[in-house]
Amino acid sequence: MRTPIIAGNWKMYKTRLETSAFFDALIPQIQDIEHCAIVVAPPYTALSTAVVEAEGTRVAISAQDVHWEDQGAFTGEVSVPMLLEIGCTYTIIGHSERRQYFSETDETVEKKTRAAVAGGLKAIVCVGETLAERDAGQALEVVRRQVRNGLGRLTGPDLSHIIVAYEPVWAIGTGRTATPEIAAEMHAEIRKTFAETYNEVAAEALRILYGGSVKPDNIAALMKEEDIDGALVGSVSLDPASFAAIIKYQ
Ligand code: 13P
Repeated sequence: MRTPIIAGNWKMYKTRLETSAFFDALIPQIQDIEHCAIVVAPPYTALSTAVVEAEGTRVAISAQDVHWEDQGAFTGEVSVPMLLEIGCTYTIIGHSERRQYFSETDETVEKKTRAAVAGGLKAIVCVGETLAERDAGQALEVVRRQVRNGLGRLTGPDLSHIIVAYEPVWAIGTGRTATPEIAAEMHAEIRKTFAETYNEVAAEALRILYGGSVKPDNIAALMKEEDIDGALVGSVSLDPASFAAIIKYQ
């Protein structure tokens, strides 16, 4: 039995004040939730505020990226020990916006993922094809490659700290959601690739989240699919009422 995860990726939105206001509104709405884990990923500057606001609740706090070294001359970067120190328990890695605008590659994703899990963070590793790749019939091949290369040299217990998020680039921020069938096909393929790369037991336990224009009115249909174990929600996660509605998809 895989516990579903509903995660919100705020991207470059919300100040600390706005973060406090968000949690003040969200927490009373999700107090009785037990069917899923809840994760919120604010920008770096609001992480501490979010950790304090979420203390004693079921909400875990995630970074949106992390560097693979613990410290060093890497201007602008933040490390795993720094995130752990402030109370973060998750990080997103390899989001398509980082691949597209900040030269993230399968190789850097692999280094970050290895560092994150070795240090004790859970890693939400994002994969997903572009529209051009899907139209060219390469979607499965691209995502298979991202799973194999991006997760790379992980072993045994590390595998239980990995969560994969399938986010087709053509569905992010476009209002165009992958149909449950398209998402389910890819999720099954990701699980199969994970089993081939590592082992069946780890693949069976792997949580695979769908991301890309998830809303209160499409979450239930997505969650009915056997291989969809949750969602990574972008813009709709900024609104506490809508995010709560997604969390209560059942
Ligand atoms: P939207 O939900 O805004 O499409 O964003 C999805 C996403 O990129 C989550 O990481």
